[in-house]
Amino acid sequence: MPNTVTKAIFPVAGLGTRFLPATKSVPKEIMTLVDRPLVQYAIDEARAAGIEEFIFVTSRGKSALEDYFDHSPILEQELLRKGRTDLLDALKQTDMESGQIAYIRQHKPMGLGHAVWCARQLIADEPFAVILPDDVIAAEKPCLQQMIEAYEETGGNMVAAMEVPHEKTSSYGVLDAAEDRGSVVSIKDMVEKPKADEAPSNLAVIGRYILSPSVMQNLHEMKEDTGGEIQLTDAIAEDIAAGGNAFGYLFRGQRFDCGSKAGFLQATVAFGLARDDLRDDLMNYLAEMVQANRAAQ
Ligand code: G1P
Repeated sequence: MPNTVTKAIFPVAGLGTRFLPATKSVPKEIMTLVDRPLVQYAIDEARAAGIEEFIFVTSRGKSALEDYFDHSPILEQELLRKGRTDLLDALKQTDMESGQIAYIRQHKPMGLGHAVWCARQLIADEPFAVILPDDVIAAEKPCLQQMIEAYEETGGNMVAAMEVPHEKTSSYGVLDAAEDRGSVVSIKDMVEKPKADEAPSNLAVIGRYILSPSVMQNLHEMKEDTGGEIQLTDAIAEDIAAGGNAFGYLFRGQRFDCGSKAGFLQATVAFGLARDDLRDDLMNYLAEMVQANRAAQ
């Protein structure tokens, strides 16, 4: 069966204020987990899921991101000359074919829904994926691939979902899930960042979506919320209200919130420990640090 979802939108226009001063000159998405920028993890996940067209919604100050995806002939020649085929291979794996990648500017910071809407002309009338590179998911089978396999059975809209502590629901889109079907739950409604006592559940939306063209149409017609933003959550909720199907997919894997400093540090440790060339040294160092810090307390 041909892959029905071949386009993915990567909203990367955010200012990254939580990582100032670093983000004064480095886009947050270029910050590295071990030796690869956040955005590379997102691209690899999309590729594994069969995505062929990669659409980045950027903003002013993100040119380092475009440069990252450029080919680097001088560097390649130099590595070849030095016989560093290992590094050359690593570099080649990040190459994108000409025409596979597109950049669209979001001219005003008007929220995630608006960022996705900026890509409407490249999406046209097809289902599409959205990946938020801040949400890094370590998984044996990449999260979007898990979702696409499930989506082939369900159709409709699908969002990655995860249980979070009740007091954290105000940081997420939250699902009102109709019935429990194991890893796929049918969604009755969705609310963006509800107060803990108003949250319909503790099932939070994590940054992976497969959306129908009708959601893009909803975004086209939506008004800004009180914060001046257009929310993707609201556009999906509107699709459900109009009779569309939506599903939460409880993925298998560990999610890191790399939009926060603590999450980024945790991801750095976890991805470091997953590497054969780093594990032993890192583990010894962590053990020493834990011991020294406990002793000092
Ligand atoms: C966005 C979405 C939210 C979702 C979250 C996942 O919020 O608006 O619904 O739960 O991503 O990371 P943000 O974290 O960009 O404020």
